Amino acid sequence: MGAIISGLGISLPDNVLTNADLERMVDTSDEWILTRTGIRERRILPKDSPLLASDLGAAAALQALQRAGVRADQVGAILVGGIVPDMQFPSTACIIQEKIGAKNAFAFDITAACAGFVYGVNMASLLIDSGQCDHVLVIGAETLSRAVDWTDRNTCILFGDAGAAAVLSRGPKDRGVIRSLLRSDGGAADILKLGNLAHGTACINMDGKHVFKLAVSEVSRVVVDTLALEGLTAANLDLFVAHQANVRILNAIGEKLGLPEEKVMVNVQRYGNTSSASVPLALFEAEAEGRLKPGMLVGLAAVGGGMAWGCNLVRW
Ligand code: UT7
Repeated sequence: MGAIISGLGISLPDNVLTNADLERMVDTSDEWILTRTGIRERRILPKDSPLLASDLGAAAALQALQRAGVRADQVGAILVGGIVPDMQFPSTACIIQEKIGAKNAFAFDITAACAGFVYGVNMASLLIDSGQCDHVLVIGAETLSRAVDWTDRNTCILFGDAGAAAVLSRGPKDRGVIRSLLRSDGGAADILKLGNLAHGTACINMDGKHVFKLAVSEVSRVVVDTLALEGLTAANLDLFVAHQANVRILNAIGEKLGLPEEKVMVNVQRYGNTSSASVPLALFEAEAEGRLKPGMLVGLAAVGGGMAWGCNLVRW
């Protein structure tokens, strides 16, 4: 039996922050943001909103369950990516478990920053393949606006808030997650980080150029390597759904893989970089646009602080 993605869900704040809004906050321009990143707008929780990462994650999870036709009490595990957890502990995953009533699940957070969803899909497929779980929720629950220095134009234009979730379920053998490959390099920990409140560095800090280069070279490499393990090449991919950080990164990876534009999913223009929520949010929109058809070979990929990156190949 395969571990199929049986349902997707999203939860987005209503509040839209446009490039024009940012022009009034820092020394930037719509033109600079658009040409350097492709981003036009992002969703941001209002400063005084009581909502936490777990609220976005729980709402997305409930929609994913409903679309999968799976009850919360059938979920065996909840794996949550997110860089601004509700608390240091308990995990956001346990808080979401309670909010959605998944009383038979075990739950924990995955600290792999923007790669959290791709890491989670790998773990979920192993839990299902091993027979330990029938259904696993993998969630990206991100309130990045709470970790952004709104006076730093290098970073504040990039990020958005979102929750997005996938239910993975035991399904037919010829569908689902075929293969995953994950990689990490702690030697590059300094190029993208969010410090500890106790150390007074609790804002996202990034060496953008360094991250850009690593993202392009390593994501292309891990996708090629994952495909090769199955005797496949990028030409076999029907759709590539990668972490949405910057349209220039997506174009450069697409070019390296030799993928035509229509096979590369892009929605960063509407949401900015939503970290671990970005891949399931892009998948959700790809499905809504009718771009996911049964039998398609879909490549998921992401890279984030750690550095941590990886790829999942999914037969839709
Ligand atoms: O989820 C994974 C994490 N993040 C990423 O994947 C992001 C990876 N990096 C990037 O997307 C890009 O490196 C950025 C979009 C962050 C920056 O683009 P860049 O083409 O690498 O620009 P840069 O850092 O070389 O900056 C060029 C110039 C600099 O001015 P000088 O030094 O050339 O005079 C910056 O100060 O642009 C300036 N700049 C800005 N100007 C207007 C930086 N941010 C802004 C801004 N508005 N918001």
